[in-house]
Amino acid sequence: MVSALEPISHMAGFDAPHNPMRRPPSAHYAREYAALVRRYEGVPVDISFRQLVGPLPASEYTHGLYPYPARLLRHIPRFLLSTEAVTSDIDVVFDPFVGSGTVLLEAQLRGLASIGVEQNPVAALVSRVKVSRGSHAHSATVLNEALAVAKRRRRVPDLSPLLSRWYSNEAMSALGRLAAVAEDSEERDRDLVQLCLALTARRMATTDPRIPVPVKGTRNETASCSDVWRQWALEGASIVAKLETLPPGRPIAEVRAGDARDVTMWPSSEQAVKTLLLTSPPYGAAQKYVRSTSLEAAWLGHAPTGKTVHLEHSSIGREHLSPQDLMLKLSSVTSSQLQLALASIAKKDARRGAIYLAYFTDMQRTFLNAHSVGVKRIALVSGDNHVAGGVLRTSQHLADIIQSLGYKRTLSVRDPIRGRTLLTSRKNGAPAPAEYIEIFEMANL
Ligand SMILES: C[S@@+](CC[C@H](N)C(=O)[O-])C[C@H]1O[C@@H](n2cnc3c(N)ncnc32)[C@H](O)[C@@H]1O
Repeated sequence: MVSALEPISHMAGFDAPHNPMRRPPSAHYAREYAALVRRYEGVPVDISFRQLVGPLPASEYTHGLYPYPARLLRHIPRFLLSTEAVTSDIDVVFDPFVGSGTVLLEAQLRGLASIGVEQNPVAALVSRVKVSRGSHAHSATVLNEALAVAKRRRRVPDLSPLLSRWYSNEAMSALGRLAAVAEDSEERDRDLVQLCLALTARRMATTDPRIPVPVKGTRNETASCSDVWRQWALEGASIVAKLETLPPGRPIAEVRAGDARDVTMWPSSEQAVKTLLLTSPPYGAAQKYVRSTSLEAAWLGHAPTGKTVHLEHSSIGREHLSPQDLMLKLSSVTSSQLQLALASIAKKDARRGAIYLAYFTDMQRTFLNAHSVGVKRIALVSGDNHVAGGVLRTSQHLADIIQSLGYKRTLSVRDPIRGRTLLTSRKNGAPAPAEYIEIFEMANL
């Protein structure tokens, strides 16, 4: 059964410098890493992480638990977290933008404790299950019992007005009963039952499966209750099979549902001196994280009024700006190069300028948190974007912010990873086809 996680700060032995579960670093990766550092002279070194690490099975461990958009290529954390120069003096891996938990799971597999923050409640749920450490022996029983109770239930609860457009009447009724069972389930089982609900609801919607955000399609238009029950059983079996592949004895990974701009979500100053921040942050116009999970959010009770715009307002990289965002001045960002770039975008397209100003202001806030708690090392995976007819050097601007806080860049590599085009509008925000992986050290520690 997937049980609720104990907060990392309360775990006995968490601060122990020599974690016995920790895997030995890879000598091969150590040589490759040292060679990259030698080659780096201020200009990004071209590299392919797929070649460096070699092929990895498509759906390894719980990595394929949920089709969350723009997942990080897991070869990157696999390489970095197996490399002594990156992790030898580290007790905690921290990801302030945890998404569906790639970094946290990779940290666990290397025997490293980790903490993550995620604002999208559906992604936070996926991550919690992905790295859960309880005994999974009873998971199948929990899911089968939830199904049996839902079938016996007569009353369908009130549902979010967002949903009726996307399901047949019978599917709505069956999913509604499953949602009520998920809500009533014991706290220690709730994540597991809610994840099965989210996956079943995703599969039973009348949406076009080729498009990550809900767009009307023709599948499931006549879905019956039996179809939903059958899908639940399939999703449940698949979740259980994936959880069973996780090795035992993995260290704790704590997922904090919240906002990375809030410093109370971060590791304490005591932990931060031995913390590696490893993350792939959102893009400036990545509005589709919230939209791509809006139906699941509604089933899980996060959209009671039928809208998910409140989730977007606390999300970095938003399309719908709040009145506060519109009050921001160029001086909210401290880098003069960045001010120039944003002014040039605003001249061509005022709304785009405001969107990217809000984005960099938020990212500056995030890295200020890293500095204020004293995070030792930062590994950042980011890309550039096509905006208003030009290329916005997002990676370089983020690096400038980090360096202005006293961190020193010790490595920059560039990988021609496929861009996250499905997540951003094609004309305004589409990523340039490469990602930068950069390492920064707190200079005065
Ligand atoms: C590029 S994705 C991370 C992908 C992740 N590495 C994975 O493999 O799934 C960026 C994530 O940042 C999250 N995010 C956006 N604004 C946030 C905020 N203010 N605080 C925490 N997370 C936020 C988004 O919901 C999204 O899941």
